[in-house]
Amino acid sequence: CGIVGVIGHKNAQSVIINGLEKLEYRGYDSAGMFLTNNEEDSQLTKVVGRIEGLKEATKDQVNFKTGIGHTRWATHGPATKDNAHPHVSQSGRFTIVHNGVIENYQELREKYLKDVTFKSQTDTEVIVNLVEYFALKEDLTAKEAFRKALKEVKGSYALGLLDNEEPGVLYAAKNKSPLLIGVGEDFNVICSDAMATINETDQYLEIKDKELITLTANSVEIETLDGEKVERMAYTAELDANDLEKGTYPHFMLKEMDEQPAVLRRIIKEYTNEAGELAVPQELIAEIKQAERIYVVACGTSYHAGWVGKELLESLAHIPVEVFLASEFSYNQPLLVEKPFFIFLTQSGETADSRQALVKVNEQNYPSLTITNVKGSTLSREANHTLLLHAGPEIAVASTKAYTAQMTVMAILAESLRREKGIEKSFDMAHELGVIATVIEGILSDKEDIHEIVKKELADTRNAFYIGRHMDYYVAMEAALKLKEISYIQTESFAAGELKHGTIALIEEGTPVIALINEDNVASHTRGNIQEVKARGARTMVVAMEKNAIEGDDVVISNVEEMLSPLTTVVVTQLIAYYASLDRGLDVDKPRNLAKSVTVE
Ligand code: G6P
Repeated sequence: CGIVGVIGHKNAQSVIINGLEKLEYRGYDSAGMFLTNNEEDSQLTKVVGRIEGLKEATKDQVNFKTGIGHTRWATHGPATKDNAHPHVSQSGRFTIVHNGVIENYQELREKYLKDVTFKSQTDTEVIVNLVEYFALKEDLTAKEAFRKALKEVKGSYALGLLDNEEPGVLYAAKNKSPLLIGVGEDFNVICSDAMATINETDQYLEIKDKELITLTANSVEIETLDGEKVERMAYTAELDANDLEKGTYPHFMLKEMDEQPAVLRRIIKEYTNEAGELAVPQELIAEIKQAERIYVVACGTSYHAGWVGKELLESLAHIPVEVFLASEFSYNQPLLVEKPFFIFLTQSGETADSRQALVKVNEQNYPSLTITNVKGSTLSREANHTLLLHAGPEIAVASTKAYTAQMTVMAILAESLRREKGIEKSFDMAHELGVIATVIEGILSDKEDIHEIVKKELADTRNAFYIGRHMDYYVAMEAALKLKEISYIQTESFAAGELKHGTIALIEEGTPVIALINEDNVASHTRGNIQEVKARGARTMVVAMEKNAIEGDDVVISNVEEMLSPLTTVVVTQLIAYYASLDRGLDVDKPRNLAKSVTVE
């Protein structure tokens, strides 16, 4: 979910709508906004669906100074108007927006709120009523009631709270979920991500877990839940507002795929040291060198990049690596070696599952690195080291340039470790990455050919398979996720050799199977697997590297170093997914049920 709040601005409605539009990547199944000047002059609006609907419904509400808004990704209760935020306390005095999950909301309801008639099925309505309960029953000020409520709630939250009786004050707090303060001239804002309000101000203040924030138009007060005042300096958010727009592109996904060669070149530049070598900071290398084993922890697309990273680190730097899904790692920690090193891969740096795993790792005092696209993000702040992806904001829910950037940064990390350990090099990494940027350009410039293949082979299908071996299998996992998440074609990825051990039962007349073939030592075996599915009626497509291509292959990619072939192959599969979604008339950038940054566990 995404939150924007503003106090003291000449047009709160526009600040909130513009902000929520930027935060739609965090969820978009319903939205709402509360605008106020004082108790008599306020408006609450909620809609099911996109921010566009909220914008339309509130277009005349232009004379408000203060407000809070929310875009939702449903957790407790379906996407209905009643469940949309903001939520209002029983008497109408307090209004709240919330991102996160309150774990003890049932208990709190039982203990304090038996007399309240709830209008929604959300955990959030419990918080706002709890604040009201303490304010009324214990005759506390809004701030003290909020403090008391925060001490009672367990779970994750980013909150913005308004009290009708104090129209010039906006309260906020966070625990585990992201929230920032933006400082303006004669106004202040809160937001889940600086992207939301970068057009209003570039000055931001971090909020730490379990702090209580009191904002007026001209003041910012930060204190701990125990009432201790905290001083904090603002920082300048380095975001280019133009990066947040599509420009002439029909979709962010297309723009972001097209940016990949430039991103690769930017990464090469950012990670080239004075000696002209690709390198990461020496302190990081020194720390990883001591590790007996690296554990890579991530979710979704980042998890898939982790598998490629494992191969790179193991083959170039000779360090054993294990890859884990963050949601599995957190509560079922595997048996670790004595000296582990953790790498968190996360585009956003905010994913709750990954963050929870990092919290566990930090509790055990193990060293860690976050590889992320977002400077200053939660996982970046909480790990010992950060490597940035330098990919620029990624807005489309389906991740593309962040995936290729993650693999590139992992390759540079592996290369630095290789050099440090004195392991002989088998290829020139800087040169190869440069070649790859050019090969990707070639793939992108022929994108219409891929569109033709999609039209011919994937037009009406309900399911599809990706197969490949070794690196191609890792790419297949990402390719299948991309295709299923934006086209809703049920797509599975299989290690090509494993197909015959069960999954081949699903192959029917006309089932599309896309095979990826890059490496010499597995090419003939994957070719064999293609024959097996063909014999059972599959309609096959082959994406192959030139040196292993044969006549009739559907997409042939120029030769690159085999170990880095995921960087080129994946671009073909991104385009396949894009066109399959486009041709079905679907919302490419905002597929159903998803959010780009999932800040609940
Ligand atoms: C969400 C997104 C995925 C993304 C995953 C991990 O589920 O829909 O595209 O890969 O989160 O995100 P992160 O920001 O941690 O890389």
